[in-house]
Amino acid sequence: MTRILDMSAEQLRTELEALEQEYASFVARGLSLNMARGKPADEQLELSMPMLDTLNSQSCWRSEDGTDCRNYGVLDGIPEAKRLMASMLDDEPENVIVFGSSSLTAMYDTVARCFNFGTTEGQPWCKETRVKWLCPAPGYDRHFAITEAFDFEMIPVPMNECGPDMDLIEELVAKDDQIKGIWCVPKYSNPGGITYSDEVVRRLASMTCAASDFRIIWDNAYCVHHLYDDVDMQDALLDIG
Ligand SMILES: Cc1ncc(COP(=O)(O)O)c(C=O)c1O
Repeated sequence: MTRILDMSAEQLRTELEALEQEYASFVARGLSLNMARGKPADEQLELSMPMLDTLNSQSCWRSEDGTDCRNYGVLDGIPEAKRLMASMLDDEPENVIVFGSSSLTAMYDTVARCFNFGTTEGQPWCKETRVKWLCPAPGYDRHFAITEAFDFEMIPVPMNECGPDMDLIEELVAKDDQIKGIWCVPKYSNPGGITYSDEVVRRLASMTCAASDFRIIWDNAYCVHHLYDDVDMQDALLDIG
């Protein structure tokens, strides 16, 4: 199979026609599906209703280390919240920082900080003539909206059964120091539900990048969103840390 990047104008036209036909066949089915992200069903939303009644003016407001939770608190989160999140992430509480309730704002902020202030390894990305970003596709539209907002050149990388095409990624990052990062939804990635294999995780973690300030944004959004209760039926994901 020829990669899109390597196609001639004629091949691109043929590919476009084939994709348009495929798209039209989906449109013709008249489906009304939102595949953009994992939207919880009503039954799942119902599960969180009791939380709305958990706190009131009679509730205890001190965390276990004595922090008054009504006030400005600690930067990295109260111990109880760090422990809860660590249990979901299969990690240690000391590796957890609790932000606000939206991971997308945290991801936007991460990219914005690299853009404005740079990383410990390099100058601010706004000083680069061009910034490029790897986008495993199909992927998450709101990730792509962030890198688009910063006018990064987004390079699509095909998704395989085991994750993104690692041969292509390794080749690209090794030779181009303008490629500064990659979006990853490593578990049950939308829309195909693919979980990165151990080999893909290892290759991502150990690849040689021309950019010393290369960043992997590891959006493990669906770490507890298993389809089956049976542990043997759940996908396991290697810890990239
Ligand atoms: C892969 C992925 N990342 C991030 C988010 C957004 O999460 P948050 O509500 O924490 O901003 C979603 C929600 O749809 C998602 O599907």
